Amino acid sequence: MSSGEPVTAADLVVVANRLPVDLERHPDGSTTWKRSPGGLVTALEPTLRAREGAWVGWPGVPDAEVEPFAEDGLSLFPVTLTAQEVADYYEGFSNGTLWPLYHDVVAPPQFHRHWWRAYTAVNQRFAEEVAKVAAHGATVWVQDYQLQLVPGRLRELRPDLRIGFFLHIPFPPVELFRQLPWRTRIMEGLLGADLVGFHTDGGVRNFHWLAQELAGATPDRDPEIVQHGGRRIRLGAFPISIDSGRLDALSRTPEVEKRAAEIREELGNPKKIILGVDRLDYTKGIDVRLRAFHELLAEQRVTVDDAVMIQLATPSRERVEHYQQMRNDIEQAVGRINGEFARVGHPAVHYLHRSLPREELAAFFLAADVMLVTPLRDGMNLVAKEYIACRHDDGGCLVLSEFAGAAIELTSALLVNPHDTDGVKEALHAALTMGPEEGAKRMRTLRRQVMDHDVDRWAAAFLEALGVKVAQ
Ligand code: ADP
Ligand code: F6P
Repeated sequence: MSSGEPVTAADLVVVANRLPVDLERHPDGSTTWKRSPGGLVTALEPTLRAREGAWVGWPGVPDAEVEPFAEDGLSLFPVTLTAQEVADYYEGFSNGTLWPLYHDVVAPPQFHRHWWRAYTAVNQRFAEEVAKVAAHGATVWVQDYQLQLVPGRLRELRPDLRIGFFLHIPFPPVELFRQLPWRTRIMEGLLGADLVGFHTDGGVRNFHWLAQELAGATPDRDPEIVQHGGRRIRLGAFPISIDSGRLDALSRTPEVEKRAAEIREELGNPKKIILGVDRLDYTKGIDVRLRAFHELLAEQRVTVDDAVMIQLATPSRERVEHYQQMRNDIEQAVGRINGEFARVGHPAVHYLHRSLPREELAAFFLAADVMLVTPLRDGMNLVAKEYIACRHDDGGCLVLSEFAGAAIELTSALLVNPHDTDGVKEALHAALTMGPEEGAKRMRTLRRQVMDHDVDRWAAAFLEALGVKVAQ
């Protein structure tokens, strides 16, 4: 990573829980940086780099005291978290309370007052860091559920700033949000922004209602505005996307095409390759797709010569209990399927618990005949869009959960209810047996959507709604 001098006063500041790079500590005491996991970084990094902005965030390990630095036009401002804060603010309130609550309570959220206290203290620190970095009148774009108090705190510290907030995960139904003991404080925190953005209209509607009920906001004649504390706060749906052009170009390179052919060869040239790519998270429905594949094999509607499944899973939040339990369950399920159906040298499921480089991932997308994206709930799901962007050959077939935000745009995928095992099984079977003409027709429609609606368009739409002049 090339280093340099960070800006002293930035006109555009992104603040997110994580920096786009994570610090890695090695046994010999040396450190390196690696790309951070997750869709937020995938989406925002190209956007911010193009605009030469500043990024305030945590370097991904506890007690890391790192000086601000610049890298390829992006100024990075690390925020230090202690080990206790990582446990209470990040693993606790963010990922043990808010994450399950906002994902339709697919796992039970836990409510602990000491987690909440850590969340408020860390949000305060992030707000103070931003207040130091932002130029007078700058635009600050606050990201995601970990930092919902930052807009309110920042407005108190720096009333001169223009503040946007974007939620990368679903905003929950009213009845679920009301479970949160600190619901009013969260609403007031978010209402500190000038613009609050969600992936879908459903999120906007839920927020609009709760802002009135919990924080005493009043509706405006414009249905996308609420009034609070003498200010008008705009709400909007901005479905996030990817750098589709870059991924399309990457997937066309001879190296990636060659690697895709090699992957098929290494798998023993199966008739069909089924792929799953996710952070190892219980919301992603990895168990759902394993169950569907298992049953198809058991019913002999598919054999290991017909189809091989690959599951690539980035390690995630490994100290949180639900994640540990889910990892065990998934690894057991993989073991069971292979125990019953694999032949020597031919596993039915290949499971890689690691993160892969972008080029390698693009080759997997290009090699996969069927892509399974089956979350129980997902804000958007960028993997679905990445698969489509890589299919410049109009090949492949996407099976997509109706509970992913992406399903609203990607209606030509085979849409499934992940709670309905028979439905997922039939969709997987249909994808495996789909004729090339129908497959190509669907893929062409999907590609039109993904190639036209890229992440730059998303960022420009958000920033314009925030009143920022965006160069075309
Ligand atoms: P989330 O933000 O919940 O992790 P998304 O699907 O929106 O979910 O984004 C996940 C991002 O992480 C995508 O850019 C995807 O390519 C990347 N990713 C997921 N699994 C892997 C993996 N095993 N190796 C490399 N990148 C991965
Ligand atoms: O929106 C999804 C998200 O939680 C992002 O905020 C985050 O960067 C990503 O997933 C990865 O999660 P984590 O930062 O907890 O590893």
